[in-house]
Amino acid sequence: MQHSALINVMVKAALRAGRSLKRDLGEIEHLQVSLKGPANFVSLADKRAEEMLYTDLSKARPGYGFLGEEGGTREGTDKSHTWIVDPLDGTTNFLHGIPQFAISIGLQREDTIIAGVVYNPANDELYIAERGKGAFLNDQRLRVAGRRQLNECVIGCGLPHIGRGDHVQFRAEMETLQNKVAGLRRFGAAALDLAFVAAGRLDGFWERNLSPWDVAAGQILVREAGGTISGVEGKDDAVTSGHVVCGNEYVHGELLKILKAASK
Ligand code: IPD
Ligand code: CA
Ligand code: CA
Repeated sequence: MQHSALINVMVKAALRAGRSLKRDLGEIEHLQVSLKGPANFVSLADKRAEEMLYTDLSKARPGYGFLGEEGGTREGTDKSHTWIVDPLDGTTNFLHGIPQFAISIGLQREDTIIAGVVYNPANDELYIAERGKGAFLNDQRLRVAGRRQLNECVIGCGLPHIGRGDHVQFRAEMETLQNKVAGLRRFGAAALDLAFVAAGRLDGFWERNLSPWDVAAGQILVREAGGTISGVEGKDDAVTSGHVVCGNEYVHGELLKILKAASK
């Protein structure tokens, strides 16, 4: 499968940083048994992966700005392009040796995400999307699931954990939804959750209080796979609002209604 030069740059960077994360995952098992635990090691793995991504991406596209979870904003001379990068999405999974984590790279031009790559080095699943050119998993074209009966749908979510988000609001949303769907899932890596919606594995997904690097690449994956993605208001942007609701057009609409009802 031929992809654009831009996608090739993003894929190459993701694969190199992915090899580094995969090596580090091997170390985690040894560190699990030590008293201090692997937390510091993981934060180093995280930073190392981000530096690799910064080096590769800025070498291939000098001047583009870079927004990374670890290093924050690095201004570029080209004010219309910004890489939006999470070097390790699903840190808690990684820390526990759970193979559900990813590198997420989005490219923003002006206010629009124009390309996205999400790569899970643990199982070698590589998701790519470019504006107007479709979404792919390891070269297979992706399409969101077509289900139009909520009681047949499996919906992913993000669960606010200790010190994060509004737990009461989440419980109200979950309670309203769990009576209506075939199943709820919490996998723990938002970029992959969005990729799973693009791949039709999840029928829909919602999560509040995410950051741009969690959502940028996944947003274009969902859109290019024919899905609908927004913030919780329906017309707002998921990347900038940090709240995400997505699925096929029908599921997206139903989720919005249910979330609204739950907040009354
Ligand atoms: C987290 C994951 C998780 C989501 C959290 C994010 P991180 O990212 O995407 O699924 O629920 O809100 O912060 O910290 O592992 O990069
Ligand atoms: Ca993240
Ligand atoms: Ca992260």
